[in-house]
Amino acid sequence: MSDPSWFKDAVFYELHVKAFHDGNGDGIGDFRGLLEKLDYIQWLGVDCLWLLPFFPSPLRDDGYDVANYRAISPEYGSLEEFRHFLDAAHQRGIRVIVDLVLNHTSDQHPWFQQARSSPESATRDYYVWSQTDKRYEKARIIFIDTEKSNWTWDPAANAYYWHRFFSHQPDLNYDNPEVQREMLDIMSFWLDEGLDGFRCDAVPYLFEREGTICENLPETHAYLKEIRKRLDQTYGDRILLAEANQWPADVRPYFGNGDEFHMAFHFPLMPRLFMGVRSEDWHPIVDMFTHTPSIPENCQWCLFLRNHDELTLEMCAGEERDYMYYAYARDPQMRRNIGIARRLAPLLDNDRRKIELLNSLVFTLPGSPIIYYGDEIGMGDNVHLGDRNGVRTPMQWNADRNGGFSKADPLKLYLPPISDSVYGFHVTNVDSQRQSPHSLLHTMKQMIARRKTQPAFGRGTLTFLHPKNDKVLAYIRRYRGNELLLVHNLAGSAQPVELDLSAFQGQVPIELLGGSRFPRISKGLYSLSLAPYGFYWFSLEQPQHDDPSYGIEGSVV
Ligand code: NOJ
Repeated sequence: MSDPSWFKDAVFYELHVKAFHDGNGDGIGDFRGLLEKLDYIQWLGVDCLWLLPFFPSPLRDDGYDVANYRAISPEYGSLEEFRHFLDAAHQRGIRVIVDLVLNHTSDQHPWFQQARSSPESATRDYYVWSQTDKRYEKARIIFIDTEKSNWTWDPAANAYYWHRFFSHQPDLNYDNPEVQREMLDIMSFWLDEGLDGFRCDAVPYLFEREGTICENLPETHAYLKEIRKRLDQTYGDRILLAEANQWPADVRPYFGNGDEFHMAFHFPLMPRLFMGVRSEDWHPIVDMFTHTPSIPENCQWCLFLRNHDELTLEMCAGEERDYMYYAYARDPQMRRNIGIARRLAPLLDNDRRKIELLNSLVFTLPGSPIIYYGDEIGMGDNVHLGDRNGVRTPMQWNADRNGGFSKADPLKLYLPPISDSVYGFHVTNVDSQRQSPHSLLHTMKQMIARRKTQPAFGRGTLTFLHPKNDKVLAYIRRYRGNELLLVHNLAGSAQPVELDLSAFQGQVPIELLGGSRFPRISKGLYSLSLAPYGFYWFSLEQPQHDDPSYGIEGSVV
């Protein structure tokens, strides 16, 4: 068996099978197409794929409305094709996790169809029913732009049913041991197929209790620990990644004592990274870490900039939320629910320096980074498509028909590819960036490769260096003998900075991305200058006999 803590050093990549590559020419991406692109994913240096739900579904929530948990949606291929893809990924050393949608099913799931048909039906108790819509009133509505209540009246059942998300997604009743067992078995089904774990959707909401906000309840944690137990008992080095869009103190219990989730997304950090660069100030980022409790040794944060949903602002209060809307979504069309439905490159005005800077932060702060497909080439979005579809358009492979995504008639594509003059597939695509050695894609590949040479990125402690210049974010990562110094200029103008590196006196900073040796660290403050949005990844090493003790002479010639 491999190292069970492999996920701490891993680089993750999120994609939707539907959006990546169409192997059969019907306009929808599939496992055959994804298989053909595994070489690309390997070339980029990705260690683990997170696939969005690929199960049969009416697709009213892009697959998060599951109608059958034990099958592949025929649009994406057969179980055979899935197996073939998974084997090929594993042969390349790439692991694969998929969404486990625990909290709710589609209203088209046979369990719900049967449940609504009669109070006596065998699955009636799989869902949460009520004769009144006045229960659990303290629970907030999550999709406030589409739903008015967490209860919907079902005339067939002659009762209200409970749902935390869309009204076509009835919540499962976890007070029912049958439901608990079903989900454990579904998990085993996919682990037996060889999947490497799950991104567990919407975990805070599994149980309901009167008088509470129905989030993060002890009963929920107890069941999640059961899931972990099953995973550990039989499946060794597989992982569970929690989607809990909560404040870090509320996410902390999802790690348990290292016996619940291996990983959890750090939701509140994400908007603070965008705030930090926009306000040219390290405080929002450093402050978020003062709110981030330590986690057990065998656990890891998952850091991200963008994903398939809106850039959520649920973890931003009044003024911060207003600031984010002002800074990144002045056009109301860019807003969805409590958030901003845009991709990374357009959010950052397609400024290569800012795109690299933010990626550098998620690659070097504590946690494992996850890249959203297409962001490695700076893909654009389409705010005119409904729901969150604007960030779910086809991957752009080349300048051919449909951006190389599909050979189908363009009108048959599941969504139109981005085709504007800045982000469109004619100009922004994998082929052209592979041919340009200085493209964003090559920089991303290089950052991924460098990250892997230094265990402190995935495993090290974090110490911020609070320089006087609050436009420069600097921190130390330490793991055993591996010491790194990371320096980021959050400003659009060149910046000087003086760092107190007295703890490292005598050591020599080696810049990892360019390979340059910098002057030896001596007494007193260490001076650096940074280009606009520039950053350095230094490894702090013992000096060699010819390293100068001061000045830059040794590194110039
Ligand atoms: C979180 C998923 O990321 C989102 O896409 C989905 O709509 C909700 N969970 C409901 O399943």
